[in-house]
Amino acid sequence: MIRSFSLLLGCLLFARITSAQQQCPIIPLPEQYEQVNGQFLLNDNTPIVVTDMGLEAAAYTLQKQLLKYTGARVSIQTRAARPSIILRRQKGLANEAYTLSMSGKSVEISATSDEGIFYGTISFLQLARKAKGQPIACWNIKDAPLYRWRGFMLDESRHFFGKEEVKKLLDEMAFYKLNRFHWHLTDEPGWRIEIKQYPRLALVGGIGSYTDSTAPAKYYTQQDVEEIVAYARERQITVIPEIDMPGHATAANKAYPEFSGGGSARYPEFTFNPGREGTYQYLSNVLKEVDALFPSQMIHIGGDEVSFGTEKWKTDPDVQALMKKENLPTLEAVEHYFVKRMADTLLRLNNLVLGWDEVTASALPAKQTIVFWWRQEKPEQLKNALDKGYKVVLCPRLPFYYDFVQDSSNLVGRRWSGSFNPLRSIYEFSTAKFPAAVNGNNPLIEGIQANLWTETIASVQRMHYMTFPRLLALAEAAWTSPDKKDFVQFEKRLKGFLPLLKQQGIYYFDNPKQTPEPIR
Ligand code: ACM
Repeated sequence: MIRSFSLLLGCLLFARITSAQQQCPIIPLPEQYEQVNGQFLLNDNTPIVVTDMGLEAAAYTLQKQLLKYTGARVSIQTRAARPSIILRRQKGLANEAYTLSMSGKSVEISATSDEGIFYGTISFLQLARKAKGQPIACWNIKDAPLYRWRGFMLDESRHFFGKEEVKKLLDEMAFYKLNRFHWHLTDEPGWRIEIKQYPRLALVGGIGSYTDSTAPAKYYTQQDVEEIVAYARERQITVIPEIDMPGHATAANKAYPEFSGGGSARYPEFTFNPGREGTYQYLSNVLKEVDALFPSQMIHIGGDEVSFGTEKWKTDPDVQALMKKENLPTLEAVEHYFVKRMADTLLRLNNLVLGWDEVTASALPAKQTIVFWWRQEKPEQLKNALDKGYKVVLCPRLPFYYDFVQDSSNLVGRRWSGSFNPLRSIYEFSTAKFPAAVNGNNPLIEGIQANLWTETIASVQRMHYMTFPRLLALAEAAWTSPDKKDFVQFEKRLKGFLPLLKQQGIYYFDNPKQTPEPIR
């Protein structure tokens, strides 16, 4: 009897020790954390206390989120109270960094920046989300992200998902501390943003999708855009629009054929015409309206795969005249001339110039340009970009294209010579694996991003299936230092978040028996 009692005691002690060594149940895993004594009880009588000016908005956001994730209806006040959730400005922390200190009496979230305060509140929400009147285990956390750029791109040209779905995605991004939403709004099948000076772009260019060329026009009005940008801003997410040029312009050319530069047999009417002066005026007017809608002061102008549609340039009299006048020896030189001129427009608008890695050759000003390295089979493009001093976002197809399948059993989706993008490959992404010549520790690397192209994604259900839970692996790869990452531990923590995804109406990929693959 005594023996079995001491055995039981031993087991209990062991359980305490292992639980003390448990990972903090947060995604992305914080930089430093420890479980501490005490339990915090959250209920309708636990106010949020703000004494610092300027934190009211953060308190209001937290108030709404507590209601959503825990059911608690807390008040906001400026008088000290205990127990309470205290938001505090603290000087000297890095941008986006925060500390979270918990005891039975208080939860204190401190940061220098609004972003830091927001991420502190997110960490608390993740700890509190299952509470529903139950005590919450206390943790002390000191945290800051690995990368400034933690991005996700959604292609709404091929298929349009609409405002409510975009907001839902922004909710999920924010809950995992992702902070850049790259919105791919224009491409071959559809133009998805209202431009008041050129209404046909949306009304005509918005007709059709990748799978239905006659679908009624779908696009975001400028009012919709403003609403989404404000929604994202409240969640510390910057929205970056992409207006792809000079290629991938098919939908725009349907609306205003006078600015088309033609294409090739396979890609008809694919480019804008770089030989006509009017094209530059037209696109500058478009970019001016876009600039006014997006406070990010960054516009992505694509610049990818232009050569798919330059066949016509060889015989177009305007392009030929331009080549003579500007002494441009090749079609690539014309392409880079075009990108440089449109970049100049952006610089005049005080915007950074963002483009896919093809623009590395376009002689853009290094300090004002961000290059998106997507062609993993061309590491020399990354090296070139860094050597030239451009800032770089890493989004190589492997492992960051989410239209690639995530499991060998998947029926629909892309592969690259048999390779695809399982959860683990995203989670374990690290620049430490790059060849030394590329220098993955280069401070010019802004961060990482996943891109969801939607040729094979026509429904919201499939969009979710391809995005989740890979979005959570991306979040941790973007936030947590490589030496703290452990895939097996991540999978354990992830299990705790799957019911929450379900509760939010997200159809995530799981064991194929539980979540059959939506093939459209
Ligand atoms: C791209 O995938 N064309 C950037």
